[in-house]
Amino acid sequence: MTPQERMAELTHILDEANYNYYVLDEPTITDQEFDKYLRELEKLEEEYPEYASKNSPTKRVGGMVIDKFEKIEHKIPMLSLPDVFDESEIEAFDERIRKAGFHPEYVCELKIDGLSVSLHYENGELLTGATRGNGTIGEDITHNVQTIKTVPMRLKEPISIEVRGEIYMSKETLAKLNLEREKLDMPLLQNCRNAAAGSIRQLDSSVAAKRNLDTWIYHLPNPEDYGIKTQFESLEYMKSLGFKTNPNNRLVKDLKGILDFIHEYQEKRVSLPYDIDGVVIKVNDLEMQKRLGFTSKYPRWAVAYKFPAEEVLTKLTDIIFTVGRTGRITPNAVLEPVIVMGSTVKRATLHNEDYIVEKGLKIGDTVSIRKAGDVIPEVVEPKLERRTGNEKDFQMITNCPICGTTLEKKKGQVDHFCPNAHCPARHIEGLIHFVSRHAMDIDGFGEKIMEDFFNLGFIKSIPDIYHLDHHREDLIELEGYGNKSVDNLLDAIEESKKNSMEKLLFGLGIEGIGDKTALLLSRNYKTIENLSTKTKEELLELRDIGPTLAENIVSYFQDVDNQELIHTLSEIGLNMKFLGEELKSSDSISGKRFVVTGTISFMGRDEIERIIESYGGQASGSVSSKTDVVIVGEKAGSKETKARELGIPIWDENTLYNVFKELGEI
Ligand code: IVH
Repeated sequence: MTPQERMAELTHILDEANYNYYVLDEPTITDQEFDKYLRELEKLEEEYPEYASKNSPTKRVGGMVIDKFEKIEHKIPMLSLPDVFDESEIEAFDERIRKAGFHPEYVCELKIDGLSVSLHYENGELLTGATRGNGTIGEDITHNVQTIKTVPMRLKEPISIEVRGEIYMSKETLAKLNLEREKLDMPLLQNCRNAAAGSIRQLDSSVAAKRNLDTWIYHLPNPEDYGIKTQFESLEYMKSLGFKTNPNNRLVKDLKGILDFIHEYQEKRVSLPYDIDGVVIKVNDLEMQKRLGFTSKYPRWAVAYKFPAEEVLTKLTDIIFTVGRTGRITPNAVLEPVIVMGSTVKRATLHNEDYIVEKGLKIGDTVSIRKAGDVIPEVVEPKLERRTGNEKDFQMITNCPICGTTLEKKKGQVDHFCPNAHCPARHIEGLIHFVSRHAMDIDGFGEKIMEDFFNLGFIKSIPDIYHLDHHREDLIELEGYGNKSVDNLLDAIEESKKNSMEKLLFGLGIEGIGDKTALLLSRNYKTIENLSTKTKEELLELRDIGPTLAENIVSYFQDVDNQELIHTLSEIGLNMKFLGEELKSSDSISGKRFVVTGTISFMGRDEIERIIESYGGQASGSVSSKTDVVIVGEKAGSKETKARELGIPIWDENTLYNVFKELGEI
C-alpha cells in the first residue's frame, strides 16, 4: 500500500470511528486504537504533507489560528422564525394554513438553544461552516466547526450540499466548564447558548476543540435538488448523510399532535441533556411550504413556540453577607425554598448594594425568582402589591461580618471590601490551596465553592472538608448545585483520601514547600510520620533542601496545632504514605535538568514533566546555563532561542517521542 493509500484508509477508519462514537453513540474501536491510528496519520501527514487532506481527522483537535473572521454570504438567507407564546397563537397558525385550503401535517422539533450554523459541502467534503450573522452575511467559522466531532468532515455520499442546524453546548459540558472557570476565578458563563457562542467566536480553534461543542442539524435549504418532498424526509436524508439529527423530531397530523408534543417536552425539558427554549412547528409538505411562501421577514410555514420563562414567587427572608478571598463583600438573598426548573433554590446572589437598591428590595418581600439561562437563580423583582407594611428596609452593613473591620468602598466602584488582610475570611486561601490541583486535586472544588462553604460555616478547617457529607442535603439545595454535582464532589473528596503523601504534604501549605519539594521529601522519607521526626541536619542532607526550608519543616511539625491536624487527618483516613513509584533510571534523563517549551502534540507538558521526574530528572521553567536539555515543541519561542544561544542540547518532538518510546512510557 502506498503512503497515500494508507492515509486514505486511516482517514476512513477514523471518520467511521468518530461517527459511530459521537453521532450514533455506539463506539466500535477503543480510545487507544483511535489514538494509534490518529498518530499514524499525523506522522504520515508530516512526512507527506502534499497528501494531507484539508479535512483530515487530525484537524479535530484544533490548533488552527485565524487572524480575523472572514465574511460568508448566504445565497439563501438564513431566516429566523416568528415567535409564538401561547397555544391560541399556534391554533391561529394552523387555522391560517387550513383557511388557505391546505390540510397540513406538521413536523414538531425541539427548539435548540444554541446558535445557528450553515455547513457547505463540496463533493462530500466539508467546505465551510458559517454563522448566521445578519441572515445574509455570516462569519466563516470553518476552523472551529472542524473541531465539532458530530460535524462530518466527509459525507457518506460525495455530493455538494448545504445544511443548517444548531451548534450547542450540553448542560454537562457547561457545568464542567464553569467548575474549571471557578477554579481559575473567572466569571461564570450564564448559559449554554452564551457558552457555545463564545466558544465559536474564538480565533484559535484549540479553544473550541476543548469545549466539546455539538450539533443538531434540522434544515435543508435546497431540498428539491435531492428529490426531497417533505421536511421529515429531509431530516432522514441528512441523517443518512452522516449528520446528527434530533431523535425527538416528530411528524404529527394536527393541532392536537402539536400541543401534545409541546406539553410532553415542557415536562421533559429539565431532564434533557441540552437546553431547549421551545418547540419549532413546521409544515411537513415542501410543496405546501413553497405555496405558503414568506413574509418580508419570516416563512409562513413555520413558527417557534417559546416556553414561558418559569418565574416563581417566594419570600425574601433575609439578606446575608459573604466575604470573598480578596475581601469583597457580596449580599445574598436568603429565600424560602422554592423549586425553579426542577431544582430547589434557597439562595441567590444580589451582587452588591446598588443592585438591591435599584430593585428596591425589602426583607420580607415576596419576590419573583427566575433561573437566568436555566442555571443561576436570579431575583427578578419585589411584588409590591403583596407588601403588608411589615417589610424591613435593606441596610448595607458597615463592618465586615467576619472580623468587624470597617468596610471600604473605593470611589466609582460598586463593591464593598474588608480591608483587613488578616481577616479570617482569608483563611480560606489555605483551604483553597489544599483542594487545588497540585495539592489534593479535589475535582469540582473551585474557589467560589470553598468561599460559599466557608461562609455558610460548613468548612472552617481542613478536616471539615472530609465531613462535608454531613451537609449533603444542605448542599443540594444551594444555588447552582444539584444532586449529581454534590455527589460527584463528595466522591472526589473521598477519593482524595487515597492520594500519595506528596499531595497532602504540599496541601498542608508549609511555607516554602512547593509541589516539587513535597515530592522530593515524600520520595525520601516515605511517610509523614517519618518526615515529622527529622532534624534540621538530617533534612539538609537532601539535595535541594536549604537551611530555611529545613527550619520551616521542623518548626511546622513541632507546632502542637499542626500535630493535632495531622493526627485528625490520619484518623479520618487520609493516606500518609508515599505511593509513587520509586525512581526509575535512564541515562538520557536521570540527574539532568530539562526545560519543556512549546506544544508537544502527543503529550501534555505536565505529563512530560511527570515522566522526567519519575526518572530523577528535573523539570524547570527557565533556561539557564545549568539546563541540560531543552525540549522544543511547536510554537516554542524565546526559550528555544536562548537554548540555541547557550548551545544547550535541544530535543525536538521526535527525539522526545523516541526516548519515551524506548523507555516504554508511550
Ligand atoms: S428552523 C427557515 N428548527 O431558532 C427555518 N430553527 O427563530 C429556520 N432553532 O434561527 C430555522 N432549533 O437558530 C429551526 N429545530 C429547529 C431549531 C431552530 C433552534 C433556532 C435557529 C433559528 C431560530 C428560529
